[in-house]
Amino acid sequence: MRLNVGIDGPVSAGKSSVADAVAARLGILHLDTGAMYRALGLTAVRRGIDVQDEEAIVRLCRELKVSVSHEADGQHTFVEGEDVTGLIRTPEVSMAASTVSRYADVRRNMVKIQQQLAAETDMVLDGRDICTTVLPNATAKIFLTASQEERARRRYLEMQAKGMNDTFEQVLEELKKRDDQDMNRPVEPLRQAPDAVLVDTTNLTFDEAVDAILKIVEANRHG
Ligand code: DC
Repeated sequence: MRLNVGIDGPVSAGKSSVADAVAARLGILHLDTGAMYRALGLTAVRRGIDVQDEEAIVRLCRELKVSVSHEADGQHTFVEGEDVTGLIRTPEVSMAASTVSRYADVRRNMVKIQQQLAAETDMVLDGRDICTTVLPNATAKIFLTASQEERARRRYLEMQAKGMNDTFEQVLEELKKRDDQDMNRPVEPLRQAPDAVLVDTTNLTFDEAVDAILKIVEANRHG
């Protein structure tokens, strides 16, 4: 049987890096599904398409070829064959991704691609709707979170390390805005699946979070 692990949770809960480590320990791939929404958001921004214009965004999503590959240094994300991995982490693209992910047809499209990839290969998928929609029959389902202040603190430190000058207050404000948009959108809002296990990392180290998830995976695999 396929080994598929779903990890959902809010902005900056550490999903991506934790999912990366969990996948490495299990010897399987990690699909960062947010990167696909980011690739669409980036393209809209680059082409000057208003992200509030649902019709135009849905059209763009249908035409656009978004793909991923897994290399030694992790996942690479492509738009029409161009590697955009280094371009999709800016605050502008984050907000654009959050906005385009509200549209039902965009989600349908992305979910289909993600389901195909997960059916072909054992993988850990991280996102917002993996346990609720993409993989309702995942081997293990995790809802990874931490307090808003702790998530903002981690994001702030990450941005400082990258030489960005945003203040902690700005980072917290941005995070609250994205939380609100992700949790209150009408289509597939972020929520914990009833059968997902909550892992709150507010007081956990990175390694402790990884170990907690591996334990859940093992229990579900053999239990
Ligand atoms: O995980 P992330 O921050 O890279 O995701 C960017 C945006 O994409 C996020 O604001 C919500 C959206 N997203 C989603 O709606 N569903 C997913 N499975 C992954 C991301």
